[in-house]
Amino acid sequence: PRPGRYEAEQARITQGAVESNHAGFSGTGFVNLDNVPGSALEFTVVETGTRDLTFGYANGTAAVRSMEVSVDDVRVGTLDFPPTGAWTTWRTLSLRATLGSRVRLVSLSAEGGPNLDYLDVGAAAGTGDQAE
Ligand code: GCU
Repeated sequence: PRPGRYEAEQARITQGAVESNHAGFSGTGFVNLDNVPGSALEFTVVETGTRDLTFGYANGTAAVRSMEVSVDDVRVGTLDFPPTGAWTTWRTLSLRATLGSRVRLVSLSAEGGPNLDYLDVGAAAGTGDQAE
Protein backbone atom coordinates (compact mmCIF):
# COMPACT_ATOMS: atom_id res chain seq x y z
CA PRO A 1 0.00 0.00 0.00
CA ARG A 2 0.94 3.62 -0.42
CA PRO A 3 3.07 4.98 2.47
CA GLY A 4 1.00 7.22 4.73
CA ARG A 5 -2.32 5.79 3.57
CA TYR A 6 -4.93 4.79 6.12
CA GLU A 7 -7.95 2.98 4.74
CA ALA A 8 -11.30 4.10 6.10
CA GLU A 9 -12.43 0.49 6.44
CA GLN A 10 -9.67 -0.01 9.05
CA ALA A 11 -10.60 3.10 11.05
CA ARG A 12 -12.84 3.32 14.09
CA ILE A 13 -16.45 3.85 13.02
CA THR A 14 -19.15 5.51 15.11
CA GLN A 15 -22.54 5.06 13.42
CA GLY A 16 -21.68 3.71 9.99
CA ALA A 17 -20.70 0.62 8.06
CA VAL A 18 -18.01 -0.70 5.75
CA GLU A 19 -19.44 -1.19 2.27
CA SER A 20 -18.10 -2.00 -1.22
CA ASN A 21 -21.07 -1.51 -3.55
CA HIS A 22 -19.73 1.62 -5.30
CA ALA A 23 -16.67 0.78 -7.41
CA GLY A 24 -13.44 2.72 -7.62
CA PHE A 25 -12.42 2.75 -3.96
CA SER A 26 -8.98 2.08 -2.52
CA GLY A 27 -8.43 -1.05 -0.44
CA THR A 28 -11.30 -3.42 0.28
CA GLY A 29 -14.14 -0.95 0.75
CA PHE A 30 -15.23 2.42 2.05
CA VAL A 31 -17.18 3.72 5.02
CA ASN A 32 -20.80 4.77 4.65
CA LEU A 33 -21.52 6.87 7.71
CA ASP A 34 -25.09 7.00 8.93
CA ASN A 35 -27.08 9.99 7.74
CA VAL A 36 -27.20 11.65 11.12
CA PRO A 37 -25.23 14.42 12.80
CA GLY A 38 -22.44 12.94 14.91
CA SER A 39 -21.66 9.90 12.78
CA ALA A 40 -17.88 9.69 12.84
CA LEU A 41 -14.68 8.06 11.69
CA GLU A 42 -11.40 8.10 13.60
CA PHE A 43 -8.00 7.23 12.14
CA THR A 44 -5.03 6.42 14.34
CA VAL A 45 -1.87 7.63 12.62
CA VAL A 46 1.86 7.31 13.33
CA GLU A 47 3.13 10.50 11.68
CA THR A 48 3.86 13.69 13.60
CA GLY A 49 4.29 17.35 12.75
CA THR A 50 2.40 19.55 10.33
CA ARG A 51 0.96 17.60 7.42
CA ASP A 52 -1.52 17.80 4.62
CA LEU A 53 -4.35 15.41 5.46
CA THR A 54 -6.03 14.26 2.25
CA PHE A 55 -9.31 12.39 2.37
CA GLY A 56 -10.59 10.23 -0.47
CA TYR A 57 -14.38 10.46 -0.68
CA ALA A 58 -17.46 10.25 -2.88
CA ASN A 59 -20.60 12.33 -2.59
CA GLY A 60 -23.23 11.26 -5.10
CA THR A 61 -25.77 13.81 -3.96
CA ALA A 62 -26.28 17.39 -5.14
CA ALA A 63 -25.43 18.91 -1.75
CA VAL A 64 -22.20 19.59 0.11
CA ARG A 65 -21.64 17.37 3.16
CA SER A 66 -19.67 18.99 5.96
CA MET A 67 -17.58 17.36 8.64
CA GLU A 68 -15.66 18.70 11.58
CA VAL A 69 -12.05 17.56 11.77
CA SER A 70 -10.27 17.16 15.07
CA VAL A 71 -6.85 15.95 16.12
CA ASP A 72 -6.64 14.37 19.55
CA ASP A 73 -10.05 15.86 20.36
CA VAL A 74 -9.06 19.42 19.42
CA ARG A 75 -10.97 20.90 16.50
CA VAL A 76 -8.66 21.82 13.61
CA GLY A 77 -11.14 22.71 10.89
CA THR A 78 -14.20 21.90 8.86
CA LEU A 79 -14.21 20.10 5.53
CA ASP A 80 -17.07 20.81 3.11
CA PHE A 81 -17.12 17.81 0.79
CA PRO A 82 -18.54 18.91 -2.59
CA PRO A 83 -20.68 16.64 -4.77
CA THR A 84 -18.58 14.32 -6.95
CA GLY A 85 -21.38 13.59 -9.44
CA ALA A 86 -21.84 9.90 -8.59
CA TRP A 87 -21.17 7.52 -5.72
CA THR A 88 -18.64 5.79 -7.99
CA THR A 89 -16.72 9.03 -8.65
CA TRP A 90 -14.02 9.46 -6.00
CA ARG A 91 -12.23 12.74 -5.32
CA THR A 92 -9.99 14.15 -2.61
CA LEU A 93 -10.24 17.03 -0.17
CA SER A 94 -7.40 18.18 2.09
CA LEU A 95 -6.54 20.32 5.02
CA ARG A 96 -3.27 21.02 6.79
CA ALA A 97 -3.02 20.19 10.47
CA THR A 98 -0.49 19.36 13.13
CA LEU A 99 -0.67 15.74 14.31
CA GLY A 100 -1.69 14.12 16.77
CA SER A 101 -2.28 10.40 16.88
CA ARG A 102 -6.08 10.51 16.36
CA VAL A 103 -7.66 12.21 13.35
CA ARG A 104 -11.42 12.32 13.74
CA LEU A 105 -14.14 13.34 11.27
CA VAL A 106 -17.62 14.05 12.61
CA SER A 107 -20.71 14.63 10.46
CA LEU A 108 -22.20 18.08 10.97
CA SER A 109 -25.56 17.63 9.30
CA ALA A 110 -28.54 15.31 9.12
CA GLU A 111 -27.19 13.92 5.82
CA GLY A 112 -24.10 12.57 7.58
CA GLY A 113 -20.74 12.56 5.82
CA PRO A 114 -19.79 11.57 2.29
CA ASN A 115 -18.65 7.99 1.68
CA LEU A 116 -15.06 7.97 2.96
CA ASP A 117 -12.33 5.89 1.33
CA TYR A 118 -9.00 6.75 2.99
CA LEU A 119 -6.78 9.30 4.69
CA ASP A 120 -3.44 10.10 3.10
CA VAL A 121 -0.95 11.76 5.45
CA GLY A 122 1.39 13.87 3.36
CA ALA A 123 5.06 14.66 3.78
CA ALA A 124 6.04 16.84 6.71
CA ALA A 125 5.81 20.49 5.73
CA GLY A 126 9.11 22.12 4.91
CA THR A 127 11.39 19.14 5.43
CA GLY A 128 11.19 17.20 2.20
CA ASP A 129 10.64 14.09 4.29
CA GLN A 130 8.45 11.38 2.91
CA ALA A 131 5.32 10.24 4.65
CA GLU A 132 6.12 7.37 7.01
C1 GCU B 1 -26.91 6.08 -1.09
C2 GCU B 1 -25.57 5.44 -1.41
C3 GCU B 1 -24.74 5.28 -0.15
C4 GCU B 1 -24.61 6.62 0.54
C5 GCU B 1 -25.98 7.17 0.84
C6 GCU B 1 -25.94 8.55 1.49
O1 GCU B 1 -27.67 5.21 -0.32
O2 GCU B 1 -25.77 4.17 -2.01
O3 GCU B 1 -23.47 4.74 -0.47
O4 GCU B 1 -23.86 6.51 1.72
O5 GCU B 1 -26.74 7.29 -0.36
O6 GCU B 1 -26.73 9.39 1.12
O7 GCU B 1 -25.13 8.77 2.37
